[in-house]
Amino acid sequence: MTEPSTRPVDDWWRSAVVYQVYPRSFSDANGDGTGDVTGIRARLPYLADLGVDAIWISPWYPSPLLDGGYDVADYRDINPMFGTLADADALIEEAHALGLRILIDLVPNHCSWEHPWFKAALAAGKGSPERDRFWFRDSLPDGRPPTNWPGAFGGPAWQQIDDGQWYLHLFDISQPDWNWDHPDVIAEFDSILRFWFDRGVDGFRIDVADSMAKDPALPDVPLHNGQPTHEKFVGHPYYDQPGVHLIHQRWRAIADEYADTPQGPRVFVAEAWLSPAERLAQYVRPHELHSAFNFDVLQCPWDAKALRDVIDHTTENLWAVGAPATWVLSNHDTIRHRTRYGRDQREALAAAGIVSTDLEIGLRRARAAALLELALPGGAYVYQGDELGLPEVEDLPEEVLDDPSWERSGHTVRGRDGCRVPMPWSGSEPPYGFGPGEGQPWLPQPADWAPLTAEAEASDPESHLALYRAALRIRREQEALGEGRMTWDEDAPAGVLSFTRDPGFRCVVNLGEQPIELPDSTEVLLSSEPLVDGRLPADASVWLQV
Ligand code: GLC
Repeated sequence: MTEPSTRPVDDWWRSAVVYQVYPRSFSDANGDGTGDVTGIRARLPYLADLGVDAIWISPWYPSPLLDGGYDVADYRDINPMFGTLADADALIEEAHALGLRILIDLVPNHCSWEHPWFKAALAAGKGSPERDRFWFRDSLPDGRPPTNWPGAFGGPAWQQIDDGQWYLHLFDISQPDWNWDHPDVIAEFDSILRFWFDRGVDGFRIDVADSMAKDPALPDVPLHNGQPTHEKFVGHPYYDQPGVHLIHQRWRAIADEYADTPQGPRVFVAEAWLSPAERLAQYVRPHELHSAFNFDVLQCPWDAKALRDVIDHTTENLWAVGAPATWVLSNHDTIRHRTRYGRDQREALAAAGIVSTDLEIGLRRARAAALLELALPGGAYVYQGDELGLPEVEDLPEEVLDDPSWERSGHTVRGRDGCRVPMPWSGSEPPYGFGPGEGQPWLPQPADWAPLTAEAEASDPESHLALYRAALRIRREQEALGEGRMTWDEDAPAGVLSFTRDPGFRCVVNLGEQPIELPDSTEVLLSSEPLVDGRLPADASVWLQV
């Protein structure tokens, strides 16, 4: 392993800005319409220049891609569509040389039905040790599946096979759940972690980190309007079971074995859609995971009081266990925040295509939100394309929809493809430099994205990209930013968020309708919109040196 040039600070992850790469849609070097590892390598200088500290790469493993790669057939290799292990090694080395750390995605709740252990379980038959690694059960006496649990993408969470048994899949039918009570499963994931840590990855994002442990009694979930509920109530049979913490403590000990290597400690970030923050805090106690995405801000309307409450509640609870907050505005599962913020806030997270949206207001608020996110204490995540101000693509033709929700919902839920449209890099028409030549990407790009390419924005000092670059540069320079504490400025008018970070930094976000005066004796470091007569307009943020 090459000695990395990344900063060897033990706590880099507490304030890191991490850029999420969705490999299928990031950059296509070989021109087959699908992004690849060589494509990511080619864009590393762009990411270093943007000023992020690390990259999280969504699953890149061999997979039939029935859930975009979150259906893993082999945890120790690279999907041949994306490249080879040698490409991954080269990526890790080149990223480190540029000062960028690499996080990859661990999918421990389920695998793909193409995983050899699942194929062996199907072949071995009822009652076999191979089936014990998953959740195979007989029908109830009346022929129903073992529980009433709903699958995340529609339909039941159980699939029946030819011999009459059912297997559990909390997500797609192609994603059988691992049995985490089985020693083989525990040992296998220990080994997978070491495999990638030994190759130099700096950490893992843990997919659905709250669901691996199940209540072995397999109780039904309550009904809501006659349907089994998706609500994650306390005591739920497969969400937030106490057993998940034993798994995380075990993984933390493995990561800590690497603390003395030149690149420093290896880290975890949990994906757990758990609210309120008291519950999330359990995942980031000492000796568990390092950080956990806070999705409460992502789900919060563009409203000063609501945002302040979420920020306070998050920091209070995470700081109480010694963990930093980890802010996130968008990812590959959610409607892009430029679009969300351009909507009536009650409907912001509604499914694509059915709610009217003002993308200009959305863009202003996305700019303001970027300065808010990057000024808050802790770490922050940026989803690919958010730095360009990409909107959700809401009019993808039905025949290209790929998210399993579309089929499983009987064509009622369009799903998450609208935030996964391939990146526009350059040029004036699709594929906008996503791949070489004129071959089109796996999801079609809108005809009006020419002004949103990285190339177009790089040469425009007013662009969204320019704002992100400036913000990330200032964030590195300012001692006050990153890890630390914040103090609300209680004299801020209604509808305004204003907070101070020591030493000498203030962030003001105007969520009201009128321009506001800024405090005296301050110097403007950066603003998301031009000030008007020295005042901060509506839906804008400013960073001040005080
Ligand atoms: C996580 C992923 C999502 C995936 C699901 C099942 O929520 O972010 O994309 O579909 O887990 O793995």
